[in-house]
Amino acid sequence: MSEDRKRMRFLVTAGPTREPIDPVRFLSNRSSGKMGYALALAALNRGHEVVLISGPVALKSPAVAESISVETALEMFAAVESRIQSADAAIFCAAVADYRPVSVAEEKIKKTADHMQLELTRNPDILGSAREQFGFRGILVGFAAETNDLESHARGKLRRKGCDLLVANDVSRSDIGFGSEKNEVTLFFSDGDRLHLACASKQEIAEEVIREIEKLIEDRKGASEKASSIELNQAE
Ligand code: C5P
Repeated sequence: MSEDRKRMRFLVTAGPTREPIDPVRFLSNRSSGKMGYALALAALNRGHEVVLISGPVALKSPAVAESISVETALEMFAAVESRIQSADAAIFCAAVADYRPVSVAEEKIKKTADHMQLELTRNPDILGSAREQFGFRGILVGFAAETNDLESHARGKLRRKGCDLLVANDVSRSDIGFGSEKNEVTLFFSDGDRLHLACASKQEIAEEVIREIEKLIEDRKGASEKASSIELNQAE
């Protein structure tokens, strides 16, 4: 790490969540966790402290300060809630299941009727809880996988969830995104700026994203130091 680059604390969520139906079945999605793990590794390679909170994936965790494995959205919520306060930046890359079964059968469900209904209930929005519920004041980064109207959906999410940065990718394309080694994303910043990162490996994309987040952390620190020195001068 270069002399002038500061060690920062990152929290990263990655992978899918699994929502059990019975002891052998669950609802989940196609997230491989590759992008989240690439971000954790990129932050680590740049000398930062990383806490990685991951759903079930077939990937080896990089040598981060803390690696926490979770299954369900509720477990991920609790893991984030207990650790987010000490982070300078929190990156929410996990593909959290939006719904979970209302009840989990204790025994394997038998096939009897021709039709069956599964009642689902909403999972908490972990990223959407960061500001008000967890009281997180650091740099908040969300991801958005969209199939249409990328910019308007991304900007809406950025605002609603109180993010400083929203990383959006177009999942209607089969050559990038889910499961792929490559990605192409657009970064939308809360000040209205945007930055397109051309198709590259997920590791290269992750390095660019971490660099952008470092700048946001530095700017936020600079602004709060300036504000407290103005307060100090006014008090004198
Ligand atoms: O609303 P949507 O699911 O598209 O938002 C995606 C972003 O929100 C991602 O950063 C994802 O990690 C986060 N998210 C979350 N908890 C949820 C749903 C999404 O943290 N329950």
